[in-house]
Amino acid sequence: PIPVILDVDTGVDDALAILFALAHPGLTVLGISCVAGNAPLDRVVENTLRILDVAGAGDIPVAAGAHRPLIEPARAASHVHGEGGLGSLVLPATERRAVPENSVELMRRLIEASPEPVTLVALAPQTNLALLLRLYPGLAGNIERIVFMGGSTSVGNATAVAEFNVWHDPEAAAIVQGSGVPTYMYGLDVFNRVAVDEATAEALLAGDSPLGRVVGALLTNRVLAGTDGDTEYSGLIGDAGAVCALVDPGALRTQLLPLRVQLSGYGRGQTLADLRRNPGEDIVHGLAEEWQSVEVALEVDVPRVTALFL
Ligand code: BDR
Ligand code: CA
Repeated sequence: PIPVILDVDTGVDDALAILFALAHPGLTVLGISCVAGNAPLDRVVENTLRILDVAGAGDIPVAAGAHRPLIEPARAASHVHGEGGLGSLVLPATERRAVPENSVELMRRLIEASPEPVTLVALAPQTNLALLLRLYPGLAGNIERIVFMGGSTSVGNATAVAEFNVWHDPEAAAIVQGSGVPTYMYGLDVFNRVAVDEATAEALLAGDSPLGRVVGALLTNRVLAGTDGDTEYSGLIGDAGAVCALVDPGALRTQLLPLRVQLSGYGRGQTLADLRRNPGEDIVHGLAEEWQSVEVALEVDVPRVTALFL
């Protein structure tokens, strides 16, 4: 199995991703690192611990990391994930607690102790990962790569052009991109496509399996569709799709693209990708350090990934 550390802001779809990662035999989840994003940090930690209880995976260490981005204040996405972070789902309280060390120290310890290079799966703003790579750049040698949900080569969600995770802490994302660790971007280009149909989600919700009922409740969480207060079913598996991409890479078409994180102006938080046929011919790329080469998922076989997830 591939050794992984998940960095999360649980979060409806982070919860789906954690459940999938724990269930898949091709992955060993070494630990989970929490960061402020979808919800405030204390909620993220509590939601993560409760989800581990649902999965019966109480022995996986969970740590609390950054409670806000490097520069800006935290801006939770309660319009998408609800005040508590898990939509309308309220899970039973847990006796479990986070480990005493912070996220960066937990990740350092796990990466150093791993006999094989560790894959970091970043499903949240990248504040913790930026701090880790700034404090311990030498760890890069034992990090296989960073698979991140974030960014977009086209439309955004937090703004017209910026995706939430990158927008929430653009400096952190830029630090991670510039760290020298190979990165794989599972952005909105594919994230917005992988969904479970409503009948299947309702069947899970009404079924006999306690785990299935939690997955059904997460999938049927309704998000605000517009300014008039309407909500709609999306069925998106969200962050879980990035974990699916890790275990079934053939289900996606990817391309190595020059990419940069925009830090100023309206485009702040945008992952600007150079989609020209021959980007390497542009003299600018030879001069500007802020362009990084990133493997970007551009197309996804939706039925294949949905079936894998289910
Ligand atoms: C990302 O931000 C959060 O709302 C989701 O959990 C996902 O990681 C989507 O932009
Ligand atoms: Ca997330």
